[in-house]
Amino acid sequence: MSFAPGILAGKAAIVTGGATGIGSYIVRKLGSLGARVAIVSRKEANLKSAVAAFKANDGIDVLWRVGDVRVPDLMQEVIEELANEMGGLDILVCNAAGNFICPTEDLSPNGWRTVIDIDLNGTFNCCQAALPYLKEASAGGRIISISATAANYGWPGAAHAGAAKSGIQNLMKSLAVEWGVYGIRANWISPGPIAGTEGVDRLIIAQGRAQEALDSIPLGTFGEGDDIANAVVYLASALGKYVSGTELTVDGGSQWQRR
Ligand code: HXC
Repeated sequence: MSFAPGILAGKAAIVTGGATGIGSYIVRKLGSLGARVAIVSRKEANLKSAVAAFKANDGIDVLWRVGDVRVPDLMQEVIEELANEMGGLDILVCNAAGNFICPTEDLSPNGWRTVIDIDLNGTFNCCQAALPYLKEASAGGRIISISATAANYGWPGAAHAGAAKSGIQNLMKSLAVEWGVYGIRANWISPGPIAGTEGVDRLIIAQGRAQEALDSIPLGTFGEGDDIANAVVYLASALGKYVSGTELTVDGGSQWQRR
């Protein structure tokens, strides 16, 4: 089951962290529905192998640039180049994230700073760099940030990521108001645990918490990458044109589970 073929034809999208995990599902879905897609992340090897796989498995040509979302000048340069190469920019997916489990009492200032810098500052850097192009998007620019349901609660063991992802949510609300006048919609998706991603493997399964996590999901399974990708398509397409400044939670109902 899918959206109408070509629903994103003529659109140009940048997905940060698009070479791996949830980002790669988003890229595949946007590309297969007609969008021109570019990915940005830190590791050239990941970018190259992802681009080859998108081509071989899905027949999608994906542009790529090495870039660290923490570096504002670099992101200005990279987003400018990609937008020019694609003939504009309609959709920015702020997906790049870093995370690790560490009790807050043991977390070094640099550990805290690193995750805030990648997740929250990185999202700000990309949004600001993309603004001139999103302003020109013919059907209204779309910013879709990937947050996490855990950010709506305390996130014991990942206070840095919880604070950063909460900050992203508030940033999206502010941009929805400030940049709504430019026709830009700014929203965030809060995924629950998504199977086969580094986040779930490292933060849940490797911590011996797989069963506990499954027990907290009313629908009884982890999500799939495409569950998040489909939510992105909805927000990025004409179907989501009146949605701005809000959360789309994709978590199998877990947020309402009594803890
Ligand atoms: C304690 C740690 C640590 C750990 C790093 N640090 N890993 N502290 N426990 N496990 C500390 C380091 O000691 C250092 O502080 C500081 O953090 C920076 O570490 P670097 O390795 O120098 O940083 P960098 O190379 O920039 O790497 C960033 C990273 C990295 C976040 C640390 O692990 C990363 O990028 N991971 C891959 C991305 C990722 O995790 N993606 C999945 C996100 S999933 P000191 O003081 O020593 O200098 C997600 C949602 C999951 O966000 C939802 C699940 C339900």
